[in-house]
Amino acid sequence: MKLSVASPIDLAAVFEQGRRLVERTLDEMLSPSLDIPTKILDAMRYSIFAGGKRLRPTLVYASAEALGLAAAKASSAAAAFEMIHTYSLIHDDLPAMDDDDLRRGKPTNHKVFGEGIAILAGDALLTLAFEALGRASLDCSLPSKACAELIMSAADAAGFKGMVGGQAADLDAEGWRRKNHGFRAGRVLEYIHRHKTAALIRASVEAGAILAGARPALRRALKRYGDAIGLAFQIADDILDVTANAATLGKRGSDRDNDKLTYASLYGVESARRRALACVREAHAALKPLGPRAPALHAIADFILSRDR
Ligand code: IPE
Ligand code: IPE
Ligand code: MG
Ligand code: MG
Ligand code: MG
Repeated sequence: MKLSVASPIDLAAVFEQGRRLVERTLDEMLSPSLDIPTKILDAMRYSIFAGGKRLRPTLVYASAEALGLAAAKASSAAAAFEMIHTYSLIHDDLPAMDDDDLRRGKPTNHKVFGEGIAILAGDALLTLAFEALGRASLDCSLPSKACAELIMSAADAAGFKGMVGGQAADLDAEGWRRKNHGFRAGRVLEYIHRHKTAALIRASVEAGAILAGARPALRRALKRYGDAIGLAFQIADDILDVTANAATLGKRGSDRDNDKLTYASLYGVESARRRALACVREAHAALKPLGPRAPALHAIADFILSRDR
C-alpha cells in the first residue's frame, strides 16, 4: 500500500495514513482476544490508543517509501517503534521519574492502573516491540545481516546507549542550577537530548532504510536527518513545555517544577528556537542524496517546529 498523498505534499494526509496503518497493526498485536490477564493488556492498550501523534511510525513509513518500499511492508517495524516510544512515556510519567498525571490528554497510566501495572505495561510493550521487529524482517524477507542490523539498531537506540542513557542523565541533571561548577550544563544538555529522544527518532528513520535495503550512503544520509530532527523535536518539546497549554498539548508542563535542564531553561525560548531551526536546516541538507524522493521527510522536518502539540 502506498501513502498516496497529493503533490507537493499533504502532510496531514501523510500522518493520517501513517496513523491508520500503524493502529491496525497495533490492534492486531494487542488483540483483546488473547489469553492474557486483562489488566496488563488493558493498561498496554490504554496508553497505546490514547492518541499520540504517531511521529515515529510515520517516519518509518516515510523513510521506507522514499526508498521504494511499500508502506504496508513496514507496518510491523512502525508498530515496534510506537511501542518502544509509548513504553518510554509510561515510565517517564511515573512518580519516580517526572511524576506527571496527564498524558495524551488522559490520566497517566499509573494513575489509572497503579504503579506496578504501569511498570509492567511498559516492560511488556518494550519486549513486544522486539517481537514486532522479528516480524518486520520476515515481512520483508530480510537477509540475516539486515535483520540483525534492524534489531541491533533499535536495541542501541532504546537502551543505555540511547534513550535509557539519556533518561538517566536527565534525572541526574534535575536541580542543575545547584550543581557544583564544573557541571558543564550545555554539554550535558546536548547529551540528554541526543540520547533520550533523538536516538529513537533516528532509529525509526533508519529502520525504514534497512527494510528497504538502502545502500550505505543513503542510510548514512537518513541517519543524519534522523539525528537532526530528533534534536529539534526535543528542543521544541522543551519550548512547548513552557509556552503551550495543557489542553492542546495533552500533558502539563512539569519541567520547571522538576528543575529540569532543558533548552528553554538554559538558553531561553528565543535562543532555543534558533537552535531548533538550525537543526531543521541540517535535516533538509542531509536529505540531499535522496534528491526529489523524500517530500514527506522534508515536510516532517518543517512540522517539528511548527507543531503546537
Ligand atoms: C513526547 O513525544 C516525548 C518526547 C520524546 C519529547 P511525542 O510528542 O511524540 O508524544 P506523542 O507520541 O505525540 O504522545
Ligand atoms: C522524555 O522527555 C523523553 C522520553 C524518552 C520519554 P520529557 O520528559 O520532556 O517528555 P514529556 O515532556 O514528558 O513528554
Ligand atoms: Mg522526562
Ligand atoms: Mg516527562
Ligand atoms: Mg518534555
